[in-house]
Formats: sequence, structure tokens, C-alpha cells
Amino acid sequence: MSWNGVEILERDDAETGATILIAIHSERLGPATGGTRMKSYPDRDAARRDAMRLSEGMTYKWAAAGFPRGGGKAVLAVPRDFRSADRPGLLRRFGRFVKELEGRFWTGADVGTSAEDMDVIAEEGAPYVFSRTPAKGGAGGSGTWTAIGVAASIEAACERLFGSRSLAGRSIVIQGAGSVGIPLMDLLAAGRARIAFSDVSPEAGRALGPAIERVPPENVFERPCDVFAPCALGGVLNAETIPRLKCRAVVGSANNQLGAAEDADRLAARGILYAPDFIANAGGAIAITGIEALGWTRDRAEREVRAIGDTVAHVFDIAERERITPDAAARRLAEERLERGRV
Ligand code: PHE
Repeated sequence: MSWNGVEILERDDAETGATILIAIHSERLGPATGGTRMKSYPDRDAARRDAMRLSEGMTYKWAAAGFPRGGGKAVLAVPRDFRSADRPGLLRRFGRFVKELEGRFWTGADVGTSAEDMDVIAEEGAPYVFSRTPAKGGAGGSGTWTAIGVAASIEAACERLFGSRSLAGRSIVIQGAGSVGIPLMDLLAAGRARIAFSDVSPEAGRALGPAIERVPPENVFERPCDVFAPCALGGVLNAETIPRLKCRAVVGSANNQLGAAEDADRLAARGILYAPDFIANAGGAIAITGIEALGWTRDRAEREVRAIGDTVAHVFDIAERERITPDAAARRLAEERLERGRV
């Protein structure tokens, strides 16, 4: 895989057998900032590739949002039999690593980590740790903020497709009942959308009411709907899944939804409107970093996150005008800012 990033810092955690990776993709607009993902991978190369792609996504996310931060991401690749008793130690050693970098890399929660984990990382890594719990002076988890931005993006897609932002009666399928999927379903239900969801874990989404239908994860792609919202892991839109989709639009929070760049063309060829992931899912990063680093009020953060809907509409406009995919349009928007070297 080609990667035009700055560098990958790597450290073996002898105590647990975990590998700590910090990928710095770009420092052009500001210090590299991105979440910490904790997960098991088939091998070290897979973990490294994930860190590389995710850090690149962060570069585009900050640039497209006009936010003075660079792209970075941390991956804590843990063994399959990783014990929860080993977790605080690993998080503290990772925090020490972050501290040693003296502000070159700032982090926050991501898949597999929580605000509580950020509290532990910050014991060693402060002040370079966002999204701590409010009890520890942070702005809390980012999932609800991300969900607000995804909901605004879904409204923008509905406006484009159906001439109205209203979600009433729209059918929306959410893949993943996690820290974004759950608050997203609350927001969509408040807008009177018809909702179905899937999750690979039978435990996830247990608390959801009977009005929300559960779809088996293997059937989620062919489920007919207006909007399909990938809110789990990346790579779900690819040569195998795109032909199965029965939706009018794809708008979700997962990072790196496209398996490969050509998948944006595959979606367009099927007439499916795609809201680029790094635009639609920027709400958490923007709100938390805005509140903690720029002193925004929560009201200001909410306004900024809702404005993601306008950015999505703008990207659809560029795509239509230039006859390119929304993904290409969003990349162009971000690359212009990266070339200028300021937001
Ligand atoms: N998980 C966030 C994302 O992928 C990363 C993040 C969270 C960054 C909180 C900063 C603060 O966008």
C-alpha cells in the first residue's frame, strides 16, 4: 500500500505482547491528532496498515473541516487473549510514549477505547489527551457528537435525493450499535425515521426498543432502505458488497468505508449517493477538540457539528458540477487547504 505520511513510531510492549503504533501522516496544518484504536489484528502488518490508513483519514478530516490539526492515529494492537487486568498498564505506558513526543501527537477515544481509558492514558500522557471524562476535566466521549454530524449528513443526502431534509418516514439501516450507532438511532427516531440495525454481537443494541428492527449482520447490505449507515469498521464498501446494496445513499460514521479508491466509482455507477466518511464522521473530533483546545461552548460545538450537513451539501454540489464522485470532490477540498498550508 502506498502511504505518503511522515513516519510511523512503533514500540513493543513486552509486559503484554501488544504493539503500540503511532502513525503521523501530516503536520502541515497543525500537530498530528487522532484517536487511539485498540484491537487485535491478524498480524503486525495489518495493524500497521490500519494505522497508516486511519492517520491519512484524519489528515483529510481536519483539512476538510478547516481545523488547524494534522493527521495521526494510534493503534494498540493487542493479542487475542489480552486480559483486562493488563489494560491500565498498557494504557499508562502508551501515555508515557505520547508524553515523550512533547505534543507532536495528540489523541482521543476511538474504536475499542473510551473516555475512561483516556483518563488512564492521561495519567502519564497529559496534556496531550482529549475526550477524558468530565470528572477528569475532559469533554467526555465523542460518539454522540459524531452521531449529530452523521444525522446532519443524512439530512443533506435526503434533501439532495428527495427535495426535503425531513427524516419522517425515511428508512435507514445502521450497521453497528456502538458508541455512534446508538445515539444516531436516538436522533433518527426523534426525526421519525424508520430504523433497522445490525451488529455482529448479539449483546449490542439489547436495550433498543421494539420499534427498531434487528437485521442479521450477513443480510445488512441487501436490506432495502433509503439510507445505509455504516457505523462499525472500515472497508465495508467494496466490489463484493456494492452490487448487493439496495439503498439510495450511504452515509455513516465508520472511518475508511471504501475498500479501495475505485469503490467510489462503483457506488456512483450504481446511482448511490455517497457522503464521504471523513466529512460525515468529523463531528466527534471537531466538537471535542474545539471544546478542549479552542474553548468552544457546547452550543458552539453543536453549531459547528451541525454545519457538517452544509459541508456535505457543498461536496455534492462540487461533485455534480465537476462530474466527479463526492469522494473525489471532498479530497479536492481537503487537498486545496493542505497545499495552501493553512485552513
Ligand atoms: N475517533 C475520532 C475520529 O476518528 C478521533 C478523535 C476523538 C480525535 C476525539 C480527537 C478527539 O475522528
